[in-house]
Amino acid sequence: MSQLEPSVPTPAGTSRVGAVVVLAAGQGTRMRSRTPKVLHELGGRSMLGHVLAAAAPLGAERTVVVVGSGRDAVLAHLAAIAPDAVPVVQEDQRGTGHATALALAAVPDVSGPVLVVNGDALLLRAATVEELVTAHRASGDVLTVLTAEVPDPTGLGRIVRDAAGAVRAIVEERDADEAQRAIAEVNAGVYLGDASAVRAALAGVGSANQQGEQYLTDVLGLLVADGAPVGGHRATDPEDTLGCNDQRELAARRRTLNDRVLDDLMRAGVVVIDPLTTWVDVTAEVAAEAVLQPGTQLRGATTVAAGAVVGPDTTLVDTEVGEGASVVRAHCQLAVVGPEVSVGPFAYLRPGTRLARGAKVGTFVETKNATVGAGSKVPHLSYVGDATIGEGTNIGAASVFVNYDGVAKHHTTIGNHARTGADNMFVAPVSVGDGAYTAAGSVITDDVPPGAMAVARGRQHTVEGWVAKRRPGTPAAAAAEAAEARAGERAEDQLPDPTPGTSSEGTR
Ligand code: UD1
Ligand code: MG
Repeated sequence: MSQLEPSVPTPAGTSRVGAVVVLAAGQGTRMRSRTPKVLHELGGRSMLGHVLAAAAPLGAERTVVVVGSGRDAVLAHLAAIAPDAVPVVQEDQRGTGHATALALAAVPDVSGPVLVVNGDALLLRAATVEELVTAHRASGDVLTVLTAEVPDPTGLGRIVRDAAGAVRAIVEERDADEAQRAIAEVNAGVYLGDASAVRAALAGVGSANQQGEQYLTDVLGLLVADGAPVGGHRATDPEDTLGCNDQRELAARRRTLNDRVLDDLMRAGVVVIDPLTTWVDVTAEVAAEAVLQPGTQLRGATTVAAGAVVGPDTTLVDTEVGEGASVVRAHCQLAVVGPEVSVGPFAYLRPGTRLARGAKVGTFVETKNATVGAGSKVPHLSYVGDATIGEGTNIGAASVFVNYDGVAKHHTTIGNHARTGADNMFVAPVSVGDGAYTAAGSVITDDVPPGAMAVARGRQHTVEGWVAKRRPGTPAAAAAEAAEARAGERAEDQLPDPTPGTSSEGTR
């Protein structure tokens, strides 16, 4: 899982919220998964990671994350992506109101506006959070809820407004009457409220509802009853408010997120041939004029420089691709592909692969922990593991860098401008010097000095007439006999003309 982008720093003393509270203790039963709901991944981040990233630019001094279901995994993940966040454990999931009360109790010193957000608000963008902050400040309300009008409000809390359009309550679908269910404006599960007003109202929240839970949404009605000013802000982009409750919704959200990423890339000048089959994590970077061919996936911290062509059918994980490089039908992880390098078709670059400018790793080649120098080539059918190859060197087809003795890994070094033969085994540790050659079919076990030619194979032994003797009557024997007959005829045709005087050589 990729790390969060660094949060945008807020000038000292102007942090616009006292705290961010993320509600992430729910089980997410409908996901039908052993993975805690907020740890499901899309676009290179967990759901939780997306929510934290949307809130990060607020520069809140305190971020509190309420965990419960699958807590060990969620706590470990949180420590990895947001080590400064304060985790709060909610033993029993007694509702969003209960969860928020626990979170605020963990930061008793926090005052002023507090952002509370559902852990599954994974499409929420920083810009939408910013809208909510601006609307909240402008209104002077003590609580502002983010809302949206959605085509299908099923399962969501409805925003009840009075005749004048003022927000009066949030009613959960299970508790709503028919008229309320007809309301298309829903609660996005994102709130900005004054800490002390919210704390006070939460103390009065009961659990007299269909689920017997303490609803955060009841805070709004309680504040209204108290005569406190509350409001709702309709999100400019309703898509930002979509939550995620099952695998079908997760797939749909993943698609939406990917569309957003590709839109941004294309606006910036990246060529995306087929947006439907191209998947780019929010953490990947692609420069203008790079080309992404169909079936490309760019995952994690992958970067692709200008003019590079990636794909078709290529997956890059945490891989760097240099300017003008070409990576075709390849799977690469933690690899560095230098400028003007050619990879594939059908190559597998494993961690620690570094290909210098203009190098080539061709078809059915696997590399691991290997440096290939500038302009050097490993064109066909080879395994290069634990190796350093110099510049301008050519590795013959079907070569294996034999790096593993069954216990430990060993290194092979090949110098500059070497020419190794096809079907070589380099039995590490071993080295081949600058400008050296090796013969085809060699098993290189001893170091080869610069400029030498190493031949390490058995000599050929040919037994003439073996098939006629040992395999008589076979098609092979018949073919051999026919070939011999033809050779005999040719030899006769080439006999010198017996007429004297017509040939200077044939009359002896
Ligand atoms: C909630 C809102 C609903 C809104 C919808 C938007 C309430 C009562 N309802 O409904 O108005 O339209 O979100 O998606 O808040 N959680 C805890 N502890 C708990 C219960 C929940 O941390 O005890 C967390 C969950 O992990 C989740 C979030 O709170 O991230 C929302 O809970 P969920 O059960 O999904 O609420 P909804 O029924 O979707
Ligand atoms: Mg929900």
